[in-house]
Amino acid sequence: MSDVPDIVVEALKSAEARGFALSCEEMVGRLLATLASAVPSGGRVLELGTGAGVGAAWLVSGLGQRSDVTVLTLERDPELAAAAREFAWPDWLEVRVADAEKELPRLGRFDLVFADAEGGKWSGLDLTVSALQPSGILVVDDMDLSRYQSAEHRASVTRVRDAILSDPRLVAADLPVGSGIMVAARRRD
Ligand SMILES: C[S@@+](CC[C@H](N)C(=O)[O-])C[C@H]1O[C@@H](n2cnc3c(N)ncnc32)[C@H](O)[C@@H]1O
Repeated sequence: MSDVPDIVVEALKSAEARGFALSCEEMVGRLLATLASAVPSGGRVLELGTGAGVGAAWLVSGLGQRSDVTVLTLERDPELAAAAREFAWPDWLEVRVADAEKELPRLGRFDLVFADAEGGKWSGLDLTVSALQPSGILVVDDMDLSRYQSAEHRASVTRVRDAILSDPRLVAADLPVGSGIMVAARRRD
């Protein structure tokens, strides 16, 4: 893990210690870091599903020394959220215990959203798209249909994929790498 940022290493170790196996893969993390670095001054970043903090750590690593952007990460599980709060986050990052789907309508708009929780992705995706600024970017992973065996899971993945690819508010790219990554931008008009 030589070139993995320290805060990501810390989060990965915490995930391992807790037996938390749902952290984003490194490829997604590096994409998040890259996109976070391009968020404009005064911008807002949202993660749905903090987990053990790995995705948030990649986002923070991309923002580096900037303090002109805020990051909000929502986690339904209070224990996971409490553990994630223990990291040495910059003061512009907030870990909030909340159900993403319930919280989304009152959060305003974001420049970058990593939708990585049940709420706001598998259900309530429309709320997440509505929370994107014009030009805002949405990242979703685990979209490779071939990874899923059960008909129920395949139907859920297909539904999310189709919703992203057919939403007239979005321009979307379906990247057949890793777990299956989809990146979409909200149109300006
Ligand atoms: C895939 S993991 C998140 C991994 C994390 N984003 C990362 O990249 O390391 C999904 C997380 O979402 C949380 N979660 C599930 N449903 C949720 C909801 N409705 N609102 C907020 N968090 C939720 C789970 O407790 C779990 O920690």
